[in-house]
Amino acid sequence: MYLRSLWSLPVLMLISSASTSAYQNNSISPNCQNACKLLQAEFGSTALYYYGQDNFTIWDAKQQEAQYACRFEPTGTADVAAALRVLVGAWCNFAVKCGGHSRDPDFSNSVGGVTIGLKRLNKVDVAADGRRARVGGGALTADVYSALDVRNLSFVGGRVGGVGVDNIYEYELVLPNATIVTVSEYQHPELYWALRGAGGGNFGVITSFVVRTYPQGLVYAGQRAWNETYTERALDEVYDLYTSHDNNTDMALWYYYGYVQNNNRFSLAGTLRYFYPIENPRVFESINRIPAVAASQQINSLGNLSGPGHIPAIPPPTRHLFQSTTCFPSREWIRESLRIFREEIEDVKSVEGLNPQLITYPIPSRAIRGMANRGGNPLGLSDIQGPLFVTLLSTAWLRPEDDILVGDFSDRVFARLEDAARRLNVYHPYKYIGYGRLGQDIFSSYGADNHKKLVQIQESVDPLGIFTSDGLCRGGFKLH
Ligand SMILES: Cc1cc2nc3c(=O)[nH]c(=O)nc-3n(C[C@H](O)[C@H](O)[C@H](O)COP(=O)(O)OP(=O)(O)OC[C@H]3O[C@@H](n4cnc5c(N)ncnc54)[C@H](O)[C@@H]3O)c2cc1C
Ligand SMILES: *[C@@H]1O[C@H](CO)[C@@H](O)[C@H](O)[C@H]1NC(C)=O
Ligand SMILES: *[C@@H]1O[C@H](CO)[C@@H](O)[C@H](O)[C@H]1NC(C)=O
Ligand SMILES: *[C@@H]1O[C@H](CO)[C@@H](O)[C@H](O)[C@H]1NC(C)=O
Ligand SMILES: *[C@@H]1O[C@H](CO)[C@@H](O)[C@H](O)[C@H]1NC(C)=O
Ligand SMILES: *[C@@H]1O[C@H](CO)[C@@H](O)[C@H](O)[C@H]1NC(C)=O
Ligand SMILES: *[C@@H]1O[C@H](CO)[C@@H](O)[C@H](O)[C@H]1NC(C)=O
Ligand SMILES: *[C@@H]1O[C@H](CO)[C@@H](O)[C@H](O)[C@H]1NC(C)=O
Repeated sequence: MYLRSLWSLPVLMLISSASTSAYQNNSISPNCQNACKLLQAEFGSTALYYYGQDNFTIWDAKQQEAQYACRFEPTGTADVAAALRVLVGAWCNFAVKCGGHSRDPDFSNSVGGVTIGLKRLNKVDVAADGRRARVGGGALTADVYSALDVRNLSFVGGRVGGVGVDNIYEYELVLPNATIVTVSEYQHPELYWALRGAGGGNFGVITSFVVRTYPQGLVYAGQRAWNETYTERALDEVYDLYTSHDNNTDMALWYYYGYVQNNNRFSLAGTLRYFYPIENPRVFESINRIPAVAASQQINSLGNLSGPGHIPAIPPPTRHLFQSTTCFPSREWIRESLRIFREEIEDVKSVEGLNPQLITYPIPSRAIRGMANRGGNPLGLSDIQGPLFVTLLSTAWLRPEDDILVGDFSDRVFARLEDAARRLNVYHPYKYIGYGRLGQDIFSSYGADNHKKLVQIQESVDPLGIFTSDGLCRGGFKLH
């Protein structure tokens, strides 16, 4: 799903002291104690884990600290449906975990309730014609890439081209009332539309996806970093690749501008991808002429490039905050965004283990056009003349005492980034849910009509409000 090395580069391997956290919760409600007993009676002890009983790891320290009553690992769709019956019957709160990359407790690890861990639902079955694959609702991107790589196939997953194109043909969904439904362009088309942009945690539990696959061999992957002298020149080239080469479906790139705490410097890096196994592809000739402080290239499979799926227990997870904004292309805005980042970093420079990265990804025009396929999606982008830029500020740090300081830093950066975008007349309200921050109004950013329609669809499948912020599955970005 991503190049782990990019994210772990400047992180100091410091083990945080056994500080208490606001998220720890030793009081498990009688309802959840009861639910765990019922689950254990129905599924036996091999499907159930209690907090601290095994080395369960999740990506973010704030979620790692969430103490669940028990963790249930279903092996099939029927188990998920049965678990929902138990949880609703006992009225016990729960959270659903797939890859566990959320940054807030209760998104995928339950605070005091039941964590439904989907890792055993990770089967990948490729259709005989090689044009689609059924993927378990708990499969990791790495599982899917590795099953497809060996057949010279791939799918639209993390860290490759085609960002934003919804390439899922069909979902198997367990509704809040434990009914199992198949959702596609042809069956429950309204729900299909809704899942393509508001899925995680609003309509039920997805137990499998049918994804589009396509022929894919090895790819070129380049990595370059530039020092302060060449930052603006490199960005000129990046901007040209994002805009003049917007229609080039063979290449992809993104850049990240980070603060490196141990040498008190800023560094610009870029990841370049070309969809054929060719060294030094011509499209990158110009950017590759700019002197780099570090450069590497390799020919590899998408699966190998995405790295392993598991989260190791050592080093222990750090705390993370993601926040994002979207704008139309503007070279001037990019320059401004770096300046804002540099200025605002001053107040957090001494935060222990600080690793902030400002990362910009293009959504190519072809991806935006693709959003209209098969009934469209709720993102509110299909009428837009692309490309768009999605900018993510990803900040990692170590100590809970710094949570507020880092949160304020991120807010200040975004207030200024969005002011600058409005001033330059390139602002777009869209917020990518995958890079959302708790409290960001993701669904309003899809436009008032889409938001309203999503809320109506949610209410129609969940009259008891189980998958809402007042219900049992409260974490995640909620429609209400
Ligand atoms: C290091 C890193 C790299 C990333 N790289 C990329 C990238 O390259 N491209 C990209 O698009 N995004 C990327 N993202 C963003 C990522 O796609 C989102 O954070 C996404 O929500 C993570 O999914 P997950 O299954 O790992 O997380 P989880 O926390 O397990 O799930 C996210 C939410 O979805 C819900 N959910 C998960 N599975 C199901 C299910 N089967 N049924 C119902 N609800 C479910 C969970 O309850 C939770 O609320 C990255 C994030 C990180 C942290
Ligand atoms: C701790 O758990 C109890 C019972 O589930 C709940 O009422 C309370 O809000 C929780 N506290 C925190 C900080 O999550
Ligand atoms: C967790 O892993 C460590 C190191 O591998 C091991 O010593 C320990 O027994 C494990 N703990 C549990 C509860 O499984
Ligand atoms: C995949 O492609 C490589 C290189 O073209 C080829 O050698 C290999 O046989 C192909 N594998 C399959 C399963 O088609
Ligand atoms: C950046 O690197 C170039 C050589 O690649 C060097 O000449 C220049 O002095 C460096 N600038 C800084 C600010 O380190
Ligand atoms: C992209 O568009 C330009 C100009 O419109 C054209 O010259 C070029 O061939 C196109 N490239 C691709 C890959 O379609
Ligand atoms: C991918 O990784 C595996 C395991 O490390 C290795 O055997 C294989 O050669 C790699 N593939 C390529 C194309 O480098
Ligand atoms: C479950 O919910 C769906 C959607 O609201 C509804 O159509 C179905 O009749 C319900 N099933 C039962 C058994 O209540």
